[in-house]
Amino acid sequence: MDRDTQLALLDRVQAHRTAGRGTDAVSEVHRQPVDAYTSVERMDREQTLLNHAPTIAGLSDILPQPGTYAAVTVGTAPVVLTRDADGQVRAFLNVCRHRGAEITTGCGAAAMLTCPYHGWTYHFDGSLAARRRPAYFEGEADDGLVALPTLEQHGLIWVSADPTASIPAEPLQGAEQDLRELGLADHRLFTSTTFTRPINWKLVIDTFLEVYHVGVLHKATIDPLIHSDFALFDAFGSNGRMVVTRRSISDLDTLPRTEWPFFPHTTIVWALQPNTILIYQQDHAQLYQSRPGAHPGESIITVSVYVPRDTTRSDEHWQKNFDLLVEVTDSEDFVTCAGIQRGFESGAQEHITFGTNEPLLAHYERELTNLLVADD
Ligand code: FES
Ligand SMILES: [Fe+2]
Repeated sequence: MDRDTQLALLDRVQAHRTAGRGTDAVSEVHRQPVDAYTSVERMDREQTLLNHAPTIAGLSDILPQPGTYAAVTVGTAPVVLTRDADGQVRAFLNVCRHRGAEITTGCGAAAMLTCPYHGWTYHFDGSLAARRRPAYFEGEADDGLVALPTLEQHGLIWVSADPTASIPAEPLQGAEQDLRELGLADHRLFTSTTFTRPINWKLVIDTFLEVYHVGVLHKATIDPLIHSDFALFDAFGSNGRMVVTRRSISDLDTLPRTEWPFFPHTTIVWALQPNTILIYQQDHAQLYQSRPGAHPGESIITVSVYVPRDTTRSDEHWQKNFDLLVEVTDSEDFVTCAGIQRGFESGAQEHITFGTNEPLLAHYERELTNLLVADD
């Protein structure tokens, strides 16, 4: 996001503040069918999409240097990512060609990948390095790991779990410059956690896509820091961005426009199809990813925090920040979402309503539905 873009966005915020008219709005409310959150058939279609659509596996630092690997789940597939000696990111199904064991779990650095079952080894380019006691396999083809499409761009890594799929050259769909300027490639993974909650996987995404709820649900926690109003919405293809304003935005009123700082007074929320929320908050990045659990009323959620490599803040500071983040989203947002999910399953109503002041929410859900239709 260059300086002109920052100032243009701040102009829009100031116009809202001056007019006292609240957040960016669209012309029509959006009616979202409840069965998008309860139907097994819909979840199966979503799972199919998540199993082959390009999906963000993490920021570049999940593979911090050549010779590192990371096991991740993409859709329902076990995937192993590697960064080879040349720094190139590669992705494979994490499935040994001998008897199918997962080659690795977790992440780390290694000279090769070694299957924990019978010890076959693979190079970081996926090729088979050696079979233990190779004489017993004489004449068998030296099959390597099954390669998956992957792309690293502007500090983000995309993977598709479908070996036959392809990843578009510009998955950010016009937001390349904005994301590049955040310097995500210069952030290190501080920590990450994964947990299961009794809510549809899209409710996890939805809760980050509007600030309308902040003044009520987060009255005691986030509301003192950010405005429920004065948020901006912009679409970038099927992705979307919300610029949220912090209460300190009033500091702009005492400064000439050319000196308006952007990041101290804003939080940027990106909805990146199909299942990622990237939040850039002042000086660090938060990644929320969600995927279906065993049924439509269950999700598996991963929360990660990435901090600048050259941060002068202590690990204690970042850990406190992370713990607070997880506690607030879990005890306020996700608890509320669990009630919503129970309500959905009660059959009380056939649709819910996204107000004209919730444009990113409507955009994300509409575009996800379009992706499902295109995928059928
Ligand atoms: S399953 Fe991997 S070496 Fe046997
Ligand atoms: Fe919230």
